[in-house]
Amino acid sequence: MGTARVVFDRWSDRYAQRMADVRSSAVRDLFAAATRPDMISFSGGMPEIRRVPIDSVISATTSALRDSGTEALQYGSSEGRPKIRQVVVDLMGEIGVRVKPDDLVITAGAQQALDLIAKIFLDPGDTIITEGPTYLGALQAFSAYQPNVVCIPMDAEGMRTDVLAAELKRLGPRGAKFIYTIPNFQNPAGVTLTPQRRRELLDLAREYDIPVIEDDPYGRLRFEGGHCLPLRALDDEVIYLGTFSKIFAPGLRLGWVIAPRPILAKFLLAKQAADLCGSAFAQTTAERYFADTRWRRVLQDLTRAYAERRDAMVEALSEHFPAEASWTVPEGGFFVWVQMPTFLDLKSILAEAVERGVTYVPGDAFYPDGRGRNCMRLGFCYAEPDAIREGIRRLAEVLEDRLILYRAFAAAGALPATDADERG
Ligand SMILES: Cc1ncc(COP(=O)(O)O)c(C=O)c1O
Repeated sequence: MGTARVVFDRWSDRYAQRMADVRSSAVRDLFAAATRPDMISFSGGMPEIRRVPIDSVISATTSALRDSGTEALQYGSSEGRPKIRQVVVDLMGEIGVRVKPDDLVITAGAQQALDLIAKIFLDPGDTIITEGPTYLGALQAFSAYQPNVVCIPMDAEGMRTDVLAAELKRLGPRGAKFIYTIPNFQNPAGVTLTPQRRRELLDLAREYDIPVIEDDPYGRLRFEGGHCLPLRALDDEVIYLGTFSKIFAPGLRLGWVIAPRPILAKFLLAKQAADLCGSAFAQTTAERYFADTRWRRVLQDLTRAYAERRDAMVEALSEHFPAEASWTVPEGGFFVWVQMPTFLDLKSILAEAVERGVTYVPGDAFYPDGRGRNCMRLGFCYAEPDAIREGIRRLAEVLEDRLILYRAFAAAGALPATDADERG
């Protein structure tokens, strides 16, 4: 995995304390290795952009410049252009959320919304609640504002609302600044919050007077099962984050935040300080792209491709992975979460996997406190089905090597106690 160069940093005593806990993204760190041509990458969350017809994007871009060039190349409003906000209003209407253009702000991807929300809500030491594991980009964005992160475990129905209830009781009314959740095909766990749990979560949030942030990049990438209403459709106090990254292209860096007006006003101030306004060029291009109904076929095609890849991955896991492994089977999105006995440290075997030409993200990247080393996130979004099967086969070999020791301990009845406790 290439040797990392250690660079002496003579400014190390000048940085703000808030940067001390910001960890580099494991996915970004793997980026160089993951893009090697022989590598089978399960580490990223990169959409299958090769299926977005470049001609449609060229005509959207050309039309943006030809018809609205002076606007596209100028500074724009901080809220975002009216037309792109109308596109979002229409998209949200299709999934059961009724909003007006003034209820939302266009952002530089959902990632910017995560950062700015943390900026407007968090003081050092504040408590926030997330699923455990959770999206590492959110942890990265939040950690700069030095919160205390309480992770709520999940099961097959999503966040465990019984555990949430107990935590909220312990923390008391307004005891957390917000609850952050990814209800659909969660990143990284792949599970979906059931309709009943959605209700329970919202009831608890109301009872304890805590804002809910719903991050929903994958909701439209459903392979099977019924559509679940977004939390925002059930409660208009919910802060909803959406993105064009998975339904169009992440290269445009376009997302949106829907929030109650007072929160949106604060958000806008933070956004102005961050970047004055989003890219008018990207927004104009997206407006044109979504004005042509062909985007629906592209999205269908993408979803079908992801479903095939999910199938390939799950079948290969059943065929090749050791009996000690368990994994989730997502109904949509990009990710499968694999759990191994706690004895196995999947971070320490990553280098070996990379050597054999396959990458994944070790589970501890998705916790704020080093938990999850016996887990891994496997992204099935980017590799073709044959490559997925081969990658899983290679990964199984690496795991089998390590399991020799584990099995010897198990046979001798000498497994560490935590194993029995944490397997679940
Ligand atoms: C759960 C989650 N939230 C937010 C993002 C950021 O997306 P964007 O490209 O819109 O910044 C991602 C990207 O993968 C994600 O998985």
